Amino acid sequence: MNNPHPAVSHSPPVDAGRLARSRRLMKIAEGAARAVGPSLLEAFRSEMAIDYKRDLHDVVTIHDRSAEALIREYVFANEPNSAMLGEEGGQFGEGEIQWYVDPIDGTANFARGLAFWCVSIAAVAEGAVVAGAVYDPVADLLFAADLERSYLNGECITSKAVGDENRATLITGYPVSRDFRLDGRDVALRRFGDLVETFSTLRRPGSAALSIAHVAAGFVDAAAGFGVNAWDVAAATLILKNAGGRYEPLTLGKVPLGSADFLCPGYVAYGAGADYPTLNRIAAAISDGRTAKALVS
Ligand code: IPD
Ligand code: CA
Ligand code: CA
Repeated sequence: MNNPHPAVSHSPPVDAGRLARSRRLMKIAEGAARAVGPSLLEAFRSEMAIDYKRDLHDVVTIHDRSAEALIREYVFANEPNSAMLGEEGGQFGEGEIQWYVDPIDGTANFARGLAFWCVSIAAVAEGAVVAGAVYDPVADLLFAADLERSYLNGECITSKAVGDENRATLITGYPVSRDFRLDGRDVALRRFGDLVETFSTLRRPGSAALSIAHVAAGFVDAAAGFGVNAWDVAAATLILKNAGGRYEPLTLGKVPLGSADFLCPGYVAYGAGADYPTLNRIAAAISDGRTAKALVS
């Protein structure tokens, strides 16, 4: 019988040593993500203090910080040759495997009691993502990728999308108040209106990592974000690409052209078979506008 989940070829064939390393790192990412699941689940929908970082739209809890510390401990115990950039704790260590960790992606949901948040952990070697895990403890969904395939709870996944945008479901946080400041409120709302009218369904669930993982699994057709960090998206980029989806990074004038896709602050994630001209047009307009502003400032 044909394999229904052939490895998607987006780069030269992976040699056995690199593949074995990526599988080992994926297991570590999965183990670390699962290790913090019980304490995060216990805290979810309990009384918790909320702190604010940059502004009132940027929340953090004690659970973000303690989960990141536990993940760091787990990863360094299992792969001592590590360095880690975590959203809450910053950069640690000087090893060759660079990890990117978001202990809770979707903290505003977590802090309020809305069940759309996840743990996101990626391993980068020689500048490329080689393994990742995105774990939703509430639904017990563990999305993961090595250099060859993507998995959901251990089963291979294949992305699939509705071809026509008028029948498709898009998930995006755009616009948030920061986008109003960057793009102009009226312009951003007009773009949002165009997306609402064009797509059959538009949702704003509020976790970039879990959104992209949903595109990878074929649960939605596309996702887009215009203010993300490496810890939000690194794991999910590999999960999406290995599942056959397409990840279009956007530099938005903030990182040099040609930067690795997981380092870019914007993205559009398309499921396999998606062809969405309105989304392409709006992403290009956001990208051009912000790049032009960056050039004059
Ligand atoms: C945020 C979420 C959100 C995205 C923001 C991220 P956080 O992460 O992923 O969907 O739009 O850019 O900062 O703060 O919940 O970890
Ligand atoms: Ca995040
Ligand atoms: Ca976070």
